Amino acid sequence: MTMTSEQDRVLIFDTTLRDGEQSPGATMSHKEKLEIATLLDEMGVDIIEAGFPIASEGDFEAVKAIAQVAKNAVICGLSRANLTDIDRSWEAVKHARRPRIHTFIGTSPLHRDITALDQDGMVERIHATVTHARNLCDNIQWSPMDATRTEHDFLCRTVETAIKAGATTINIPDTVGYTAPRESADLIRMLRERVQGAEEIIFSTHCHNDLGMATANSLAAVEAGARQVECTINGLGERAGNTALEEVVMALRVRNDIMPYQTGIDTTKIMQISRLVAAVSGFPVQYNKAVVGKNAFAHESGIHQDGMLKNKETFEIMRPEDVGLASTSLVMGKHSGRAALRSKLSELGFELGDNQLKDVFVRFKALADRKKEVYDDDLIALIQDTASTGEDDHIQLRRLRVVCGTDGPQEAEMSLQIGETEKTIDATGDGPVDATFNAIKMLYPHGAKLELYQVHAVTEGTDAQATVSVRLEQDGRVYTGQSSDTDTVVASAKAYVNALNKLYLHRNRADNSALMQSAS
Ligand code: KIV
Ligand code: ZN
Repeated sequence: MTMTSEQDRVLIFDTTLRDGEQSPGATMSHKEKLEIATLLDEMGVDIIEAGFPIASEGDFEAVKAIAQVAKNAVICGLSRANLTDIDRSWEAVKHARRPRIHTFIGTSPLHRDITALDQDGMVERIHATVTHARNLCDNIQWSPMDATRTEHDFLCRTVETAIKAGATTINIPDTVGYTAPRESADLIRMLRERVQGAEEIIFSTHCHNDLGMATANSLAAVEAGARQVECTINGLGERAGNTALEEVVMALRVRNDIMPYQTGIDTTKIMQISRLVAAVSGFPVQYNKAVVGKNAFAHESGIHQDGMLKNKETFEIMRPEDVGLASTSLVMGKHSGRAALRSKLSELGFELGDNQLKDVFVRFKALADRKKEVYDDDLIALIQDTASTGEDDHIQLRRLRVVCGTDGPQEAEMSLQIGETEKTIDATGDGPVDATFNAIKMLYPHGAKLELYQVHAVTEGTDAQATVSVRLEQDGRVYTGQSSDTDTVVASAKAYVNALNKLYLHRNRADNSALMQSAS
């Protein structure tokens, strides 16, 4: 067993559920957030930033529920620099075995203009808010937002104030993805040298990927003394996203010879969490994405394949199994039993409970009846097909028949179960998907705008499953639905219905909380 000293241990702080979810369109349901947090905890993430409790009732409830279930990870809630935000965060995270409050304020000149605080005013605010947080919780993280564009003297003054007021971690965000590796390292070094009390706290790095340098900037900060890296799965996040967890963790592992730092991450769970986050957020992973992309371990060209056959290390710097990728193989057919399915899913990183397995088995059999060859990717799509597990959903697709032809318009005949009532309609449209979506809109009128419709084939062949993502927008909120089926139009209808169910749930939750407020 390798012994790790505090000096070479790098803490992994995952903010998929806060900064990641903030990216437009990546809204996740309560259940989905819990599922992701549970897996992050299991894979050894040190700190999970579970949300922004003041942002909404839903955010608060999710952070609280994650705090209640987390076994090992520190659970953190974000708060702006005011007492109400901080109290709300504490209310949510105090249920955790190891709670943390994270509070921040924009320190750069541009941000000081927005808050209308001069330097002295801002220092006073930092002192008051961090002191308040520290009186509630003994684990406090403070962040000067836009640190990389803040004057160095002022940055040192704010960091010193936060440390004196009781902050235990100081996070240095490159909020707009502006810095570069050497500068990122110099900034951490400068703070460690100049700030009084710096040796008592942990410096953290939080990078955005606007110039594609987030991972490099984070690693440079580590080499300069940062011992916490903030990141998200698949690099999910606003604009070009955040530092990708899988990149930092695998870089530290593969190049441990030149970056001798350890994380506590079980890397064999990387593919599983990557797939889960992609499915839940509706943000597919780009094919050539480092570590988790579909092509990250594919060797197409003849010369590469030849080299690989002779010695895998010729073109492979990490093994697929190190990140939990089982080699793609023809898995099973319609004669395969439940035990074989359970064992195959376990190999792919999915441990299902008996009821879940029962449901997936029924859908696997249905798929195997329609599709000759069922591959690993088909099974993964089946597991991630959140739209097919909704027997309790308010809206359910009962029947769909589409008539296509060269001399359109195309027609869709559809039945939806809406609450207690089954409704049927005929609709036309410019193509089968348009006709299907028109039928849904007629059966369940709503004001949401279709923002994104995306289809991708799960495997090759004309009988391949299609995974469809649908993104709806209403009143500034985004609802993402996803589904897979060998019939693209059916997958489209189910994905649309899935997004509408999320919208319905959100509206219902908002109505309930308005009711609670008027009753109190
Ligand atoms: O990018 C940023 O500055 C942030 C802070 C709130 C930490 O996400
Ligand atoms: Zn950020």
